[in-house]
Amino acid sequence: MSDYRRHVSAVCGMLAFLTLLPALNAAAPTLALSGERRHSFNDGWRFYKGVATGAEKPEFDDSTWRAVRLPHDWAIEGPFDSKLNPHTGALPIFGTGWYRKSFALPASAKGKYFSIEFDGAMANSKVWLNGHELGGRPYGYIGFSLDLTPYLKFDGAANVIAVRLTPEDHSSRWYPGAGIYRNVWLDVTGTVYVAHWGTYVTTPKVSDEQASVSVKTQLRNRSGKEVKVAVQTSVLDPAGLMVSRSIVQAAIPAEGPQAAPFTVPSLLAVNHPKRWDIDHPDLYTVVTEVLENDLAVDRYTTPLGIRTVGFDKETGFSLNGRHLKLQGVCDHHDLGALGAAVNRRAIERQLQILKGAGVNALRTSHNPPAPEILEYCDRLGLLVMDEAFDMWRIPKVPNGYSKYFADWSEDDARDMARRDRNHPSVIMWSIGNEIPEQDHPEVEGWREARRLTGFFHEEDPTRPTTSAFNSWDNAIKNKMAAEVDIPGFNYSPMHYERILKDHPDWVIFGTETASCVSSRGVYHLPIVAFEHPASLQISSYDTVAPPWAMCPDVEFTYQDKFPQVLGEFVWTGFDYIGEPTPFFNSEDKSTNDWPSRSSYFGFIDLAGFPKDRYYLYQSQWTTKPMVHLLPHWNWEGKEGRVIPVMAYSNAAEVELFLNGKSLGKKARFSDPWDMPVNQKISETGKFVTKYRRVWQVPYEPGVLKAVAYEKGKQVAVEEVRTAGTPAKVKLKADRTVIQADGDDLSFVTVRIEDQHGNLCPMADNLVHFDVTGAGTIAAVDNGNAATEESFQADRRKAFSGTALLIVRSKPGEAGRVKIVATSEGLTKDTAEILARRQK
Ligand code: GAL
Repeated sequence: MSDYRRHVSAVCGMLAFLTLLPALNAAAPTLALSGERRHSFNDGWRFYKGVATGAEKPEFDDSTWRAVRLPHDWAIEGPFDSKLNPHTGALPIFGTGWYRKSFALPASAKGKYFSIEFDGAMANSKVWLNGHELGGRPYGYIGFSLDLTPYLKFDGAANVIAVRLTPEDHSSRWYPGAGIYRNVWLDVTGTVYVAHWGTYVTTPKVSDEQASVSVKTQLRNRSGKEVKVAVQTSVLDPAGLMVSRSIVQAAIPAEGPQAAPFTVPSLLAVNHPKRWDIDHPDLYTVVTEVLENDLAVDRYTTPLGIRTVGFDKETGFSLNGRHLKLQGVCDHHDLGALGAAVNRRAIERQLQILKGAGVNALRTSHNPPAPEILEYCDRLGLLVMDEAFDMWRIPKVPNGYSKYFADWSEDDARDMARRDRNHPSVIMWSIGNEIPEQDHPEVEGWREARRLTGFFHEEDPTRPTTSAFNSWDNAIKNKMAAEVDIPGFNYSPMHYERILKDHPDWVIFGTETASCVSSRGVYHLPIVAFEHPASLQISSYDTVAPPWAMCPDVEFTYQDKFPQVLGEFVWTGFDYIGEPTPFFNSEDKSTNDWPSRSSYFGFIDLAGFPKDRYYLYQSQWTTKPMVHLLPHWNWEGKEGRVIPVMAYSNAAEVELFLNGKSLGKKARFSDPWDMPVNQKISETGKFVTKYRRVWQVPYEPGVLKAVAYEKGKQVAVEEVRTAGTPAKVKLKADRTVIQADGDDLSFVTVRIEDQHGNLCPMADNLVHFDVTGAGTIAAVDNGNAATEESFQADRRKAFSGTALLIVRSKPGEAGRVKIVATSEGLTKDTAEILARRQK
């Protein structure tokens, strides 16, 4: 168990796992309830893809259905299909899917209240218990809780939960996944307890001496009569020590069918608070206990980060009084080859890789995220723009959220706020992305913007709302921009000056920036602003962008010019499945763009390998000395031809050497380079950037070396060598010890090297994996956006010399995992991972 989980578990007792005891009836194992309130409910499900008439009825025979463990994404299993929509990944994201789970309750369950909580189910869910319809939710990204109690059998007989999902084709502009792709929980309480998402924690006053902590606790009382309780609220410091406590006596009236839960306010003080900050995300925990006759009948925990956040029209964004530019990325929710199925380690890894580039903020484009994302942002120190919707009433795709907006937007928006408002990482609410109403004054989208902003203000008066406007001038004209607290503008850095001048009271920022595209390790000459090559791979010189977009340098230029602009959110950190722009750019499936099926926008590829652009951002967003060199140095047949060489570095000077000979030093920000850009950026098609250092180097094989200096002293170095022919496979696991819990992962990088250990930058050798012992293959990938190869296989071709193997532990099986990687004609490699039982 990670430190954080150990901490939370020890402190809060919230992560107890539910085990299944052998039962008389094999189909309905008896739940062993640990005494904790919240239990994982992911095990023991059966799944069927297709229409199953009568599957909601308990007596339905599901014995031939597949056994699955949640979270589960059926679409990622594929196969990729050229007849399916490439914008949603050419994967089977639609149709009907059923999940069923049988269980019996122990005698001790009598008198308790049970609810099932879905963190999200994709999509149009309907849930039945023992044949009774309980409800469901159209929006696949919102969590919901359903009361099981009225229809539960407490006498040891089988209970059957059935879930039907009917996600539709053309319901999304990216890969949404399909299935119960997030965690499911069973909530077990007594008659008086803290309501679902029932706490609201704020820090009205924060100083170095003291922070006041306000906790509003909503209580449910299902006893049918008034109950006198004490609500004991404790604040635990980051080490788990109690530093503040309050007890409030309250008489909780019996709840009626319509009555809102009863709220108990508490006010506490924390002396000399440790601030939650991006560099030291110190997390406190609020523990709420409901006491009846001095006995704790419920226990509920809430994260608490003590921090102050400022948005100022002159000084921009500040955290704990310190000015900070938002160095953000937008990301979709898929986890690459693992699809949409939530996995804690895969989420943590993505965020860690992002932090490595200096990223300090995440936009959950364009939907409420998995709760684990916010948990890890709290823990790792990332700020979050939490986004609700990609569309309102006017559709962007035929079966999108617009179908549900009128009926569900209030519930979805309020639920998102209630679920997420206690996370210190969340700094603002986005009510929508590029809402088409901007361009339709007749529909008066400003009214909708006001309504949605109102919901967030009511649920959480402490955070501003924003919306990402791509029609900057129309959004202003039509008054939509004025209806959010902080208008955000997509792809409009050249208009910041004008907007600031016309609206001197506004605080603004780049909600979505760049949209530069590239394929890792691929370089095309000459360097151009746009291409649509038959290879379906885009050059990594970091200049190519679709017509509405631009390379990172343009945004850097304007962000530097206007320090009061809060910062930017790059489209995107990671490549994601679907939206393979610039390929399939019309919906015309008859183009030659198959099998391009995932995005090229990321500065990290789908497998999690940084592209060159990662280092361009790192050179602007970090201070630890670094230098990165591109392109590769294997230009056989082009001897003597001039090859542009670029260095991305945050150091004062960079000197380039070819085979030991200096090609000159270049100082930071003083090497203007005329880069090609599209007409939107400049009519001349050129834009002067100062953010890269560029040498024109006649090609000769050997060693290209960049040395970075600070005050004349070498601080960083990078070499690129001409590689020989592929000779061996090399494996490197990101973690060699993982938990034996059936969820934990090791990400193993697979490199094709020459006999001297140099990466072969063009190698595409097919590598076979044999994984034995206490682990299995979870998925394979190589970051190639244009391949039909399955993510679920025991082999993968390298792409630009690299591939990825993801190994998963087996539930409860500790031991060694042995990996053997072989490839025809190459020396094989082996690696070992230890799967350890949780301590
Ligand atoms: C934006 C949109 C994103 C993505 C991006 C690609 O307009 O908000 O979802 O489609 O373009 O450049």
